[in-house]
Amino acid sequence: MDIEKIRKDFPILSRIVRDRPLVYLDNAATTQKPSAVIEAISGLYRNYNANVHRGVYLLAEEATQAYEDSREAVRRFINAGSTEEVVFTRNATEALNLVAYTWADANIRAGDEIIVTIMEHHSNYVPWFRLARRKGAVIKIVPSRKDGELDMDAFGSMLSDRTKLVGIAHMSNVFGTINPVREMVSLAHTRGAAVVVDGAQSAPHMKIDVRGMDCDFFALSGHKMLGPAGIGVLYAKSSYLKSMEPFMSGGEMILRVTLEDVVYNDLPWKFEAGTPNYEGAIGLKAAIEYLEALGMDTVEAYERELTEHALRSMKTVPDIFLYGPSDPAKKGGIIAFNIKGVHSHDIGTILDSEGIAIRAGHHCAQPLMIDCGVSAMARASFYFYNTEQEIDMLVKALKKAKEMFGHVA
Ligand code: ALA
Repeated sequence: MDIEKIRKDFPILSRIVRDRPLVYLDNAATTQKPSAVIEAISGLYRNYNANVHRGVYLLAEEATQAYEDSREAVRRFINAGSTEEVVFTRNATEALNLVAYTWADANIRAGDEIIVTIMEHHSNYVPWFRLARRKGAVIKIVPSRKDGELDMDAFGSMLSDRTKLVGIAHMSNVFGTINPVREMVSLAHTRGAAVVVDGAQSAPHMKIDVRGMDCDFFALSGHKMLGPAGIGVLYAKSSYLKSMEPFMSGGEMILRVTLEDVVYNDLPWKFEAGTPNYEGAIGLKAAIEYLEALGMDTVEAYERELTEHALRSMKTVPDIFLYGPSDPAKKGGIIAFNIKGVHSHDIGTILDSEGIAIRAGHHCAQPLMIDCGVSAMARASFYFYNTEQEIDMLVKALKKAKEMFGHVA
């Protein structure tokens, strides 16, 4: 990969912040956008903006075609069997809630069991927690081992004929752990449980094959993979989608409304009430094409090198504790850490004064914070446009933070 050339595709990466070149290491929160995405969105508004699936005039046809072409791009990107199985949502959170309020609401009853992992983002935990409360179902949590990987023995022993749903973060947004979803799906299926995979952190960084994984549902967010905010995707097997009630109701999700009855639209539009975020979908298509041109295997391999370098060099910061797997083969480019004597928010502030952007806090994963016995962590997260030099700048700034704040043992 020609990183210098790639970096030129991202206008924001040449920004100066706090009198220094921006070092953007908060990619697990959101990613920066290449010119191709920015231009795809402005191209829509300059040339062919119209509401989709409604007008009979040329602009409306072009906008509708572009919106549906984006669905096909997503299908290809995640290797779904059909565009019927690709539902546009606002983000991964909405995709997961869609499943909770439709399929899960209709199929989970008192006494049923839902298994999630300790690594879930609140988006793949709170909807199931609320559902369990509503229904009198039981939530079970797969713990992680000391090495930051899931305890698969515990998972195996939790599964039973009462398990109706399993929720798994494909890649932890804190530990970066890549969880063995394929194996977990096949174990869950032997018990007849449905599996929901939160792919918000994995889809931007590795090749996704929903058919190979055999998951029943898979959620992703466009803004974490170069696309605009406000567009996400729910992949669901069509056998599930066919049996599910709509989530939201209104325009576009119906075929016919009479005073006596309502007939829902075909898949996937049955799940897309109201004017959709076609701007977002068109931006997402440009993002997918950008990623495909790089090649997801190349992206993953390059980010693994960065992670390897970061794990090695961050360890040289005195009193640092790195969470998650220490083996770069087991994780994506997300490194959460704490430095003894320095609050993660102080780390974030000192890094900001050096032009380095990271996230500090609970990362919307409070069950994992509780499990680790902390209330907050600092987190650096990488994308393919980051460099080893940027990681070296991070490490230098962390040493400075330790010097300034970290005298308390
Ligand atoms: N889910 C995003 C993160 O982990 C916002 O930062």
